[in-house]
Formats: sequence, structure tokens, C-alpha cells
Amino acid sequence: MDSLISKITSIGAQTLKDIDAASDLPTLEGFRVSVLGKKGSLSEVLKGLGSASPEERPKIGAAANEVKAKVESALEAKREKLEAKELEGKLAKERIDVSIPSRKLHRGALHPITQTTRRMVDIFSRLGFDLMTGPEIETDYFCFEAVNIPADHPARDQQDTFFMGPGLVLRTQTTAIQTRAMRGQKWPIRVLSPGAVYRKDNDATHSPMFHQMEGLWIDKDVKMSDLKGTLEFFAREIFGEATKIRLRPSYFSFVEPGAEVDVSCFKCGGKDAGCKVCKGSGWLEILGAGMVHPKLLELAGYDPKEVSGFAFGIGIDRVAMILNEIPDLRLMFAGDQRFLSQF
Ligand code: DAH
Repeated sequence: MDSLISKITSIGAQTLKDIDAASDLPTLEGFRVSVLGKKGSLSEVLKGLGSASPEERPKIGAAANEVKAKVESALEAKREKLEAKELEGKLAKERIDVSIPSRKLHRGALHPITQTTRRMVDIFSRLGFDLMTGPEIETDYFCFEAVNIPADHPARDQQDTFFMGPGLVLRTQTTAIQTRAMRGQKWPIRVLSPGAVYRKDNDATHSPMFHQMEGLWIDKDVKMSDLKGTLEFFAREIFGEATKIRLRPSYFSFVEPGAEVDVSCFKCGGKDAGCKVCKGSGWLEILGAGMVHPKLLELAGYDPKEVSGFAFGIGIDRVAMILNEIPDLRLMFAGDQRFLSQF
């Protein structure tokens, strides 16, 4: 019996030493298994208990329990220590240095065309205009026929058209929306239609895709002076209080009379012969406008003796270029970050 008890005691003493020396958690776990596990040294020793006498057994059992308890509490204490050490190491390794300057964030911005469109929409909505859009692939009918440009009309040549199939074109003008607006509702009408339009054209001031904003106002007694007042309000809001407008007679099949409209140069006010924005002329052309042709009113089922209206089509890209002093229209559609990041 003494030999069994001394074996147990010496296992205990050795294990406590080992536990004390263990430097990491896996090693510690290894000791636990090799001593207390099913096939551990303590269990192996206790297998000899069968050959001990009934009086000896409780003493051996008590000795074994004592060693087991000591080993277990030593294991527990050591585990806590090692875990704390491991955590400390991890924290030190993963430490974030909050004093290091962060990487520069590149924030996106709205495209100058979008910015300009939004400003324009905002200005006209203060006059009561509602937004209405139409399809970019448009029927020949809405794009030309319904706005008084029959098939053999020379005005079709002004707008080199992309044809999409029988009776379908990429719309060359947002004017195509006018008939859609009038068909859909009775007057009074006050709609604003921004959107992309397409023409076979490509140079510093023309792009095959560009943007227009159509306006249409139909009501009783709408006069040319209402058109002028509306455009003057718009010009002052977007280019500044001092802006003036000038109407030059022009021909558009869907209006009578028709006009091309210039705004005074917001940069030099016409005072600088070398001005880069207006090239010294003092004026910038930005839109076409006029009084809605009676034919269009009739086509919509309105009585031209009862109602009248005005329409305008503004070049959004022109406005954006003027506002931002952009020299070449094509820059706006090239997608070059160096250009876009300036806005
Ligand atoms: N649609 C014309 C163009 O693309 C612009 C225009 C002129 C629109 C006169 C109008 C207008 O509504 O009345 O050149």
C-alpha cells in the first residue's frame, strides 16, 4: 500500500512541477490528459487498487483524491494565467494606432450635367412646372410629324437623325414630349422635360448625345410677354441678378413666332472684348422658344381660339458649360476622373 500511495504522491509532485513550468495552453492541456485522463498516469496507478486490502483502499482513494484536487486547482490557476497572457499578447499585436493619419477618401460628386439639371428644375418648379419625361427611343410621329415636321420637310435635315427601325428614331429633341403632354391631359399645362437627345454630330460644341430641357405652358391668354418674363426669371436665377436676355427671330416648325434666345455674358457683362466665355460678343445663345403653333394645339384637341401657349427648349449642356467655363463639350462625356473630380 505504501508503494501505491508514494507512487500517487510522486505523480502529484511531478505534475505540479510540470504545470508550473508549462508556458502555453496546449502544453498544459497535454499534462492534464497525461495525468487525469482515462489513460493518464493516475488512472493507471489506481487500476492496482483491486489488489489492495479493503482497509487500505479508502486511504489510497483519499490520497488519490487529494492529489487529483491539487492538480486540478493548479491546472485551473495556471490556465487563467496563460489565458490572460495570451490575451495580452493578442491585444498588443492587434493594437490600432489611432494617431496614424487615415488614407484619403475619394468622395463621389454629381456630374456637372446632373447638377445643372437639378438647379434648372428647381428654378422652374418655383414657377409651377411639373416634371414629365418621355422615351429616348421615340416614334417618328412624336419626334417630327406631331411637331409639324412632315416627312419631306427640310427641317429634318437640321437634325441628323439616328434611325432605330421602321418608324423609330433616337429622339433628336425633347420637343417630342410636347404632344405626349398635351395628349395626356386637358389644359392648363405647365410641364418641364429634361432628357438626353441624339444627333449625328461630333465636335467641340456638338456631341452625338446631349441634353435638353423642354418647357411647355398652355393656358387661356398666354402671351409672348409671359414667355419673356419666364425666361428672364430663369436667366437671372441661374446666371445672376444682372443677367439680361435677348430674343432673335428664328424658325422652328412647332412655334409661331419663334425665337432664339441669348443671355448676356455673366462673366464680362459684354464689357470685355477678350472674354473667353462669350468671345467678346457679350451674348450667349442657350435656347430656342416661341408661341406654340396653332396646328399643335389643334392636334391635341384644343381650340386655338380658346387657348394659347409658349414652349422653350434649353440646351442643358450649354448652360453647364457656361456656368463652369468648360471649353469643350466632349470633356463632359469622356468619363475622365481628372475632369470630373473638379465638380
Ligand atoms: N427643339 C429645338 C431644337 O432642338 C429647340 C426648341 C426651339 C424647342 C423652340 C422649343 C421651341 O420648345 O419652342 O433645336
